[in-house]
Amino acid sequence: MKLIGQGRTADIYAYSSNQILKLYQSDFPLAAIQNEFRITQLLHDKGLPVPQARKIIDEGNRKGIVFERIEGQTMFSLMFHQPPRLQERVHQLAASHKELHAQSDDERVLPSQKQVLSGAIRRTQLLSEEDKTRILDYLTRLPERIQICHGDYHPDNVMMNEMKNACDVIDWMTGMSGDPAGDVARSWVILTSGSLPEDADPAIRLGFERFRDTIVEGYINHYMHLSGLTWQEIESWILPVAAARLEESLPGNEAEKVLKLVQDRLNHLDSRIELK
Ligand SMILES: Nc1ncnc2c1ncn2[C@@H]1O[C@H](COP(=O)(O)OP(=O)(O)O)[C@@H](O)[C@H]1O
Ligand SMILES: [Mg+2]
Repeated sequence: MKLIGQGRTADIYAYSSNQILKLYQSDFPLAAIQNEFRITQLLHDKGLPVPQARKIIDEGNRKGIVFERIEGQTMFSLMFHQPPRLQERVHQLAASHKELHAQSDDERVLPSQKQVLSGAIRRTQLLSEEDKTRILDYLTRLPERIQICHGDYHPDNVMMNEMKNACDVIDWMTGMSGDPAGDVARSWVILTSGSLPEDADPAIRLGFERFRDTIVEGYINHYMHLSGLTWQEIESWILPVAAARLEESLPGNEAEKVLKLVQDRLNHLDSRIELK
């Protein structure tokens, strides 16, 4: 099979002319794979722009999901291969995120954002028990909503079909229902602190550093413009979202940046709560 993509958890192969195989590392938990399969299927059936998940298969000692193949390129690769159109791509990225958020999980079949975040905050070893308690307490005061949230929305998880001028969203393992402001805050944290893998093309790594601020600002401003959300509403989620991200095994300097986002906000937590 021809390798067409590689992520942190899986290799992507062409499986047939119109299907791909996402083959997970052999030690990857089966429950997480089943979760991605189930969520992708549910959202596809709901009519969202999501590839169809066809089946789970065994390939040697690894498990994989066969998905409908999306024609087109990731938003990430388009951004770097056509820099003059960067602003347009960034706006499409925001518009496609807003479109997902317009739908709600009325059947309550997705994990809830507050449960996902609080679980991860409890598990991280990078925060003291006292800080965790303060963050968990703060989390309970944030809005409770049931909109469709992706949980890992960034330009490498959005594919653009230029013929149709439409985006499809992939990689739904962390799909959940919750407050869109929290999902946008998570994208903000990823975009501001994320780093590309060590083995990524050096030209792309350099390009990403150069355009990072333009991408983050353009995406956030356009999302606010389309949705009417304010920066305060998005910002209020950064503390729990960043704290929860500490649970993922982030590369060293990325963990440091995320920890700083948490510490800065913890330092002002008491005045924040009084303001509310
Ligand atoms: N359904 C699909 N159709 C076409 N390409 C895909 C599809 N799913 C994934 N890819 C390609 O594989 C890459 C990694 O897939 P993804 O599901 O995001 O894996 P990971 O969880 O490792 O990030 C994507 O960025 C994209 O280039
Ligand atoms: Mg991905």
